[in-house]
Amino acid sequence: MRIKVKAFGVNESEVTTRKGLSDPDVTLPRVPGIECVGVVDEAPSGSGLSSGRQVATMMGGMGRSFDGAYAQYTLLPVGQTIPFDSELPWETLGALPEMCQTAYGSLHTGLDLHRGQTLLIRGGTSTLGLTAAAMAKDLGTTVLATTRRSERAQLLRTLGVDHPITDDGTIARTVRDICPDGDDAALELTGTRNLRDTLRSVRVHGTVCFTGALSDTWTIQDFLAIVDRGGQPCGLGSVRVAAVAVAGRAGTGACGVSNPVPDR
Ligand SMILES: NC(=O)c1ccc[n+]([C@@H]2O[C@H](COP(=O)([O-])OP(=O)(O)OC[C@H]3O[C@@H](n4cnc5c(N)ncnc54)[C@H](OP(=O)(O)O)[C@@H]3O)[C@@H](O)[C@H]2O)c1
Repeated sequence: MRIKVKAFGVNESEVTTRKGLSDPDVTLPRVPGIECVGVVDEAPSGSGLSSGRQVATMMGGMGRSFDGAYAQYTLLPVGQTIPFDSELPWETLGALPEMCQTAYGSLHTGLDLHRGQTLLIRGGTSTLGLTAAAMAKDLGTTVLATTRRSERAQLLRTLGVDHPITDDGTIARTVRDICPDGDDAALELTGTRNLRDTLRSVRVHGTVCFTGALSDTWTIQDFLAIVDRGGQPCGLGSVRVAAVAVAGRAGTGACGVSNPVPDR
């Protein structure tokens, strides 16, 4: 299917591709762009989509193993276009597909979040964090969200966050002052640098979803499945760890059991 591109978001993954640091699934030469919105320019018969239909698309190899959205027209597999109707401006629509899919996939597929639960969003003022907070509030959860800048707490409150937290690199104790048994779920967007502390914030049998690495730290040095805490032996709790790489129709990988090392 040929799409006339109206708008596209610029994603960190494209920046990583430009730096030459992407995984081998990125083949060159390549037109980047992992998402876009636009209208159908030409569709194969039987696709059910006619010329001029509004569509959104993202990932599934777009801009990585086949040419993507940084173009006036782009060619896509029929199966990965999502038709929609909206009167929002294209520049607004262009920001939505990857952001909404990632936030939704993290909360539902990654964390299996439910009404009444508590959610920590680490990296709360990021685009993804703010979107996840709005979705989580809509679901009926209590949201804790971090920023490194205390002056941004009001922004988080205005957008519905119940407990803004200033992140100085160690927040598990603050989280447990709010949720004494630990939070039910945590969405990690800041990277592996803070991951151990995020694990400490989560209740026994809670879930951590690792979706982003704003600090550019993606691997864990000297990872021990049984993590010690300040030289003390760890407790016996466990958390589920999900790593979300939202692809095409929100595929995810989820693995591992680690110790949350509860502070209390
Ligand atoms: N898994 C997926 O499928 C997927 C899809 C899309 C995006 N992502 C990832 O999700 C993350 C968020 O993306 P985004 O586009 O929403 O980000 P963004 O809007 O660019 O986030 C900007 C905010 O991040 C915070 N930040 C910046 N550097 C930081 C650092 N070193 N440590 C902690 N916080 C930092 C700052 O907030 P404060 O100054 O207020 O702290 C800043 O205002 C990225 O890592 C992105 O790659 C993953």
